[in-house]
Amino acid sequence: MAIFHRNSSKSKPTKQVRSTILIFVIAVTAIAILFLFSSLISTNPFASFSNPNSLYEEAWNSKKYLYWGNRIDCPGKHCDSCEGLGHQESSLRCALEEALFLQRTFVMPSRMCINPIHNKKGILHRSTNGTTSTEESWAASSCAMDSLYDIDLISKTVPTILDNSKEWYHVLSASMKLEARGAAHVQGVSRVELKENSHYHKLLINRTASPLSWFVECKDRKNRSAIMLPYSFLPSMSARKLRDAAEKIRALLGDYDAIHVRRGDKIKTRKDRFGVARTLHPHLDRDTRPEFILCRIAKWVPAGRTLFIASNERSPGFFSPLSVRYRVVYSSNYSHILDPLIENNYQLFMIERLIMMGAKTFIKTYKEGDTDLSLTDDPKKSTKVWQIPVYNADKPC
Ligand SMILES: *[C@@H]1O[C@H](CO)[C@@H](O)[C@H](O)[C@H]1NC(C)=O
Ligand SMILES: *[C@@H]1O[C@H](CO)[C@@H](O)[C@H](O)[C@H]1NC(C)=O
Ligand SMILES: *[C@@H]1O[C@H](CO)[C@@H](O)[C@H](O)[C@H]1NC(C)=O
Ligand SMILES: *[C@@H]1O[C@H](CO)[C@@H](O)[C@H](O)[C@H]1NC(C)=O
Repeated sequence: MAIFHRNSSKSKPTKQVRSTILIFVIAVTAIAILFLFSSLISTNPFASFSNPNSLYEEAWNSKKYLYWGNRIDCPGKHCDSCEGLGHQESSLRCALEEALFLQRTFVMPSRMCINPIHNKKGILHRSTNGTTSTEESWAASSCAMDSLYDIDLISKTVPTILDNSKEWYHVLSASMKLEARGAAHVQGVSRVELKENSHYHKLLINRTASPLSWFVECKDRKNRSAIMLPYSFLPSMSARKLRDAAEKIRALLGDYDAIHVRRGDKIKTRKDRFGVARTLHPHLDRDTRPEFILCRIAKWVPAGRTLFIASNERSPGFFSPLSVRYRVVYSSNYSHILDPLIENNYQLFMIERLIMMGAKTFIKTYKEGDTDLSLTDDPKKSTKVWQIPVYNADKPC
């Protein structure tokens, strides 16, 4: 560079002193600028720098983050207790979609809350009566997120980091150093607004203020076309060891069909003021009993087939009557594979879900999509009307 060009030996001493000072000042300035750059680099270790001129810009335009908090749906209704895996996945999927839409890295909670009623190991070996104890402390019933999901696999679709990672601590300290430019704390702002309004184009969008469940706050409720990730996204992102176990069991099952029988909490009744038991799903208890299942699935599952049953029904042998026509198998038949692996029922259900996804014919409890086969015609979304359960068959089998 020209300014660093040394004076010739012919220069007068005073001029030499002046130029020495000039060089000194330039050097100090250069060091100061370098220091500034390097501190920028150290707070953004993920940014790759090549051309010093674009350094500052690149630090800004590279990764940005979306943070929804360190617990799914909290703040919201579920800080002490939590919802089941399905509800939490709805929220997680919604937040991942938002990150995808905003082209931001999603900061995922490093732990997932396990609802106490789902925290008994082994779906067919439960002994509890299904009463929810909301007093259960959250910390005591949670599991590591990466014991459920393969974060690297998710990152291939939506870049994701955990909130106990080094990168997240770097982001937090960078956002603090950047002060007002570091983070936007938002509530009730649509994802389109977050994307288009430059006011939100900060290192971090902090979505933790809303008192709503994530999926309520996150989804663009006026816009049904905003769904970007299918329901099957998170199930297929299960942790490696869960996918491997499911693969092993599928290989052992060979050619099989599957049914998912939701009973448990769903068939709960409560007495009205006349002492009459009522339920939100009037035909569910009947339709998920073995004699009704046998009748209902006969047209879809030929006799002699291997039938994998996943259920939250607790009574042992409840589905045994199905073995008059089928080779009935549960995940408990593979306890030699599962017991050394499974720490909680979410993991077990995730494996069962992968097995069900691999069935030749799969029958759900409720019909969700147009092409779904189902055990009952009751809608999955409860009508919120408590009705008297129906046990007689209104159709001959
Ligand atoms: C469940 O509760 C009912 C009534 O409260 C009781 O009769 C039954 O023995 C309980 N079952 C188990 C497995 O605890
Ligand atoms: C996010 O915002 C909340 C207030 O809504 C604040 O308490 C929290 O510290 C913020 N978190 C981060 C990481 O900026
Ligand atoms: C609906 O969502 C899509 C995709 O996110 C977006 O392109 C579109 O502008 C939205 N429409 C409205 C009316 O918000
Ligand atoms: C699976 O286990 C049940 C008992 O839990 C047993 O009745 C059934 O025969 C087993 N199925 C197979 C295919 O081994």
